[in-house]
Amino acid sequence: MTPAPPSLQISGVCFTFPDGTRALHDVDFHADEGEFVALLASNGSGKTTLIKVLVGLLTPQEGSVRLGGMALADLSAPERYQAMGVVLQNPVDQLFAATVEEDVAFGPRNLGLPESEVQQRVSDALEAVSASELRGRAIHHLSFGQQKRVSLAGVLAMRPSILILDEPTAGLDPSGEAAMMRLLHRLNRSGHITIVLATHSVDLLPLFADRIYVLRHGRVLKVGTAQDIFCDQEVIEQASLRLPYVSALLYEMKHVDGVPIHGLPLTVGEARHRLLELIPEDLLLKPFEEKAS
Ligand SMILES: Nc1ncnc2c1ncn2[C@@H]1O[C@H](COP(=O)(O)OP(=O)(O)OP(=O)(O)O)[C@@H](O)[C@H]1O
Ligand SMILES: [Mg+2]
Repeated sequence: MTPAPPSLQISGVCFTFPDGTRALHDVDFHADEGEFVALLASNGSGKTTLIKVLVGLLTPQEGSVRLGGMALADLSAPERYQAMGVVLQNPVDQLFAATVEEDVAFGPRNLGLPESEVQQRVSDALEAVSASELRGRAIHHLSFGQQKRVSLAGVLAMRPSILILDEPTAGLDPSGEAAMMRLLHRLNRSGHITIVLATHSVDLLPLFADRIYVLRHGRVLKVGTAQDIFCDQEVIEQASLRLPYVSALLYEMKHVDGVPIHGLPLTVGEARHRLLELIPEDLLLKPFEEKAS
């Protein structure tokens, strides 16, 4: 049996803006069905440009973009919109109707679906992003975090199989950031939606991303799991990134204080396990429980 083509794939992509700025150089990227893939890079590295190329908003001067094995250029706009949903960096670029309900209904209505199905999709999408109570609100009265959730609802209402998000957690408060990442994780693991997410936020990624692309000056510097990426000090420095805070603390304890910590924990859960391993069991007040982090 021949393997299914990657959901989304680009090869040898170069993109230069009309003013001569070369934003992408020879970029290869793929996201397989059901994967959670992150583009991790500092400001101005080409994340937004790459996302716009992936969804067909920008056409690269060189290289190919394929969706489900087909050249993106050979697919009609409705075929693309139904397969891929994009949530842009700034929600204002995406919201245009007067009310939340009208905005979320816009895409499904444009597909020509019966009104009962449109209403059902609006309810489901708003519920998925915990924004059902915003249904009747005017778009211009929403807070930034609410706008982010509603713009995601508008995309989810199209029931895409690939969801592409540009900095979905930027500008959200800490609980909003964690809630957004948990929602994306749920859509990915239970809803089987392929996720491609651009971010420069390193603390939550190790919990969620299957694979991470690190970009620098429009080139792919490294691709790998969170362990592959964050254990590579050189890549982290070259890309002007940092370790997750919890890893930075344990790295210092290990290398400065000589605490014999195993590996490099990337999440609070892993760090807890590694530290508990070093404490004699009879000093623990409660038995050490093995929990998935
Ligand atoms: N319309 C444009 N015209 C010319 N240059 C542009 C344009 N848009 C972006 N660029 C340049 O392309 C490069 C990549 O920009 P891009 O917006 O893709 O970066 P980014 O990684 O998304 O950054 P950020 O984290 O700040 O959102 C930058 O050097 C930027 O200045
Ligand atoms: Mg950007």
